[in-house]
Amino acid sequence: LLSTLPKEKTRLITLHKYQDFWYSARQLGGVLACQQHFQAQDTDIHLATAPKSGTTWLKALVFTLLNRKNCPITKDHPLVTTNPHDLVPFLEFDLYANNQVPDLASFASPRLFSIHLPFTSLPKSVHESACKLVYLCRDPKDVFVSLWHFSNKLRPQNIETISFEETFHKYCKGVSFFGPFWDHILGYWKESLRNPEKILFLKYEDLKEQPRLHLRRLAQFMHCPFSAKEETEGVVDEILELCSFGNLRNLEVNKDGKLSSGVENTAFFRRGEVGDWKNYLTAEMGDQLDEIIEEKFYGSGLSF
Ligand code: A3P
Repeated sequence: LLSTLPKEKTRLITLHKYQDFWYSARQLGGVLACQQHFQAQDTDIHLATAPKSGTTWLKALVFTLLNRKNCPITKDHPLVTTNPHDLVPFLEFDLYANNQVPDLASFASPRLFSIHLPFTSLPKSVHESACKLVYLCRDPKDVFVSLWHFSNKLRPQNIETISFEETFHKYCKGVSFFGPFWDHILGYWKESLRNPEKILFLKYEDLKEQPRLHLRRLAQFMHCPFSAKEETEGVVDEILELCSFGNLRNLEVNKDGKLSSGVENTAFFRRGEVGDWKNYLTAEMGDQLDEIIEEKFYGSGLSF
């Protein structure tokens, strides 16, 4: 299949275009296996994001929300000892990587998974079942900066720093992991308008600005709203504090060590702020991305 797909070479890696989105060969193996073999259940919850949109935060929040009865917030909470990515696996990276077909029998209902797959490429059973999707997006300018830092962390040590300008140019053309970013976001956005029971659409910036409001929306959407008792006891704030950037980043488990996938735990906690792009993009680059955003999202009702 790879030899027949359109290719774009970035300095380090060749990306392949499949069903209108760009993937590395390894990612594509996972995508194909997942599309072929994954069987969704009606009670599943999928956390969908484009890379570097705040997946780690969303995993922590939803895991804590869903499990708050069995795992109350104490110093022994699973998030204190385990990185969120090891608690909520990616279907296409961790479970179906390299065309493997995993045994998911040990996952208790409701099963919680994470995906970077675009909406139109989701396994058929995800569309057909009553499972739910939470989509988190983020200002593409901050995503780009985050992505560039992350890619540099992942590069082999003997390879020079990845060019910021070159990566930016490709990103603007839509060539990045699981890109074009605009089609990734719009796919989930449009479906969330059509089917709000199925997809909850969130923005990283909104979550930062009004965390309580959006945590309650998340709980409601997943049919586990906060009880009056929980509200009085301050459970909402406890969850937000446990999952906050400052708290997660400073946990011993996230300060060193690696995920089961081999990526260093620290790579997922950099700045965790809105607008960090201003420290990296020139004014021209910012304007260029803004123009693309304006053009691509025109008429959708979505803006950044
Ligand atoms: P920055 O590189 O801008 O700091 P993902 O989880 O999708 O890989 O995205 C990573 C981005 O989310 C990084 O952004 C990271 O710092 C930020 N992040 C990780 N945990 C977070 C948290 N608990 N709250 C807010 N942002 C967080």
